[in-house]
Amino acid sequence: MRILVTGGAGFIGSHYVRTLLADGYPGLRGARVTVVDKLTYAGNRENLPAADPRLDFVHGDVCDLDLLRQLTPGHDAVVHFAAESHVDRSLESAAEFVRTNVGGTQNVLEAALRSGVERVVHVSTDEVYGSIDRGSWTEESPLLPNSPYAASKAGADLIARAYFRTHGLNVSTTRCSNNYGPYQHPEKLIPLFITHLLQGWPVPLYGEGANIREWLHVDDHCRAIQLVLDGGRAGEVYNVGGGDERTNRQITERLLEHLGADWSAVRHVADRKGHDLRYSLDERKIREELGYRPQVPFARGLADTVDWYRDNPAWWKAAERNAANFPPDRAN
Ligand code: NAD
Ligand code: DAU
Repeated sequence: MRILVTGGAGFIGSHYVRTLLADGYPGLRGARVTVVDKLTYAGNRENLPAADPRLDFVHGDVCDLDLLRQLTPGHDAVVHFAAESHVDRSLESAAEFVRTNVGGTQNVLEAALRSGVERVVHVSTDEVYGSIDRGSWTEESPLLPNSPYAASKAGADLIARAYFRTHGLNVSTTRCSNNYGPYQHPEKLIPLFITHLLQGWPVPLYGEGANIREWLHVDDHCRAIQLVLDGGRAGEVYNVGGGDERTNRQITERLLEHLGADWSAVRHVADRKGHDLRYSLDERKIREELGYRPQVPFARGLADTVDWYRDNPAWWKAAERNAANFPPDRAN
């Protein structure tokens, strides 16, 4: 087996590749991997093994169709993670989001189709559904994205649907909730707050901190992607939720406790524009069809994540240096 992974130097993609190379997915023991990654501020070659005979790394852009057409032949499957992923950045400048997330996804699908790749998983997000005050979204819920990031991911999902309906491409889409874990860029809530507190800086909580997210450890997300790759049906969407709903205030409270700080370290800053109040997924489909069960309890996963950032300051300090306008001015 040979798998092409786009965006494999980012947070979730690199977790998937490291697990695969460690033979953590029974169906893929011994498989070879090609990673194609543009190494934007969010990608880091060092997130992957430096030299593994089963890994080929290609520094490239998913918007480059010629490159993808050269790479895809000989691969049995494509797992497509590459994206611009940070909502706040999409509020400042949306063009790169549309280019990579919509145009790049179309290229990945086109290259897979033309090369006869047998299986594609497109990794999407719960944010395509918008915001929900009560209840949970099923895969049939309407797409009502609110941020340019979410809209670009929804566009990608619809292109994936069209490649299945029109061309019969064997593509499935996953829509997951908020991930946390090691190697997440320190621009995102949990690592941002951990790394700020480790440096004795105040943490910027948007608005009242009443927004609710459903937190899932990256290892559980990647396991779900693998289940979909192995057994998901063509043209189908699979929600991947964790069931661990928390307000941002609750997350902040936990992190303050872990890092020995109190609420005097919290700065209430202006709210995110168009800030989605709550995300919640109904994940019965992936549980019933594919036997998915999250395995990492939130308390343990969060404690391990705090330890990882405490133990790896060189990694996150390099990530901070590589990102333009980071840390945001307001936090200093
Ligand atoms: P990330 O920002 O950490 O990593 C993205 C990776 O894609 C980086 O390595 C980057 O260099 C690469 N990339 C960006 N533009 C590229 C391009 N044009 N060509 C090639 N590579 C490019 O993101 P992440 O958090 O790991 O998210 C991975 C995927 O999972 C994304 O599609 C995201 O929408 C989705 N997702 C993320 C979450 C989450 O909580 N982080 C939840 C659900 C879904
Ligand atoms: O739901 C899945 C999505 O989760 C993924 O598709 C995205 O790629 C991923 O970035 C994430 O999006 P969010 O916007 O939910 O994540 P973020 O970590 O940016 O913010 C989480 C919550 O914390 C959100 O309500 C905004 C708030 N927040 C965030 C930051 C960065 C703050 O209060 N302060 C901050 O400084």
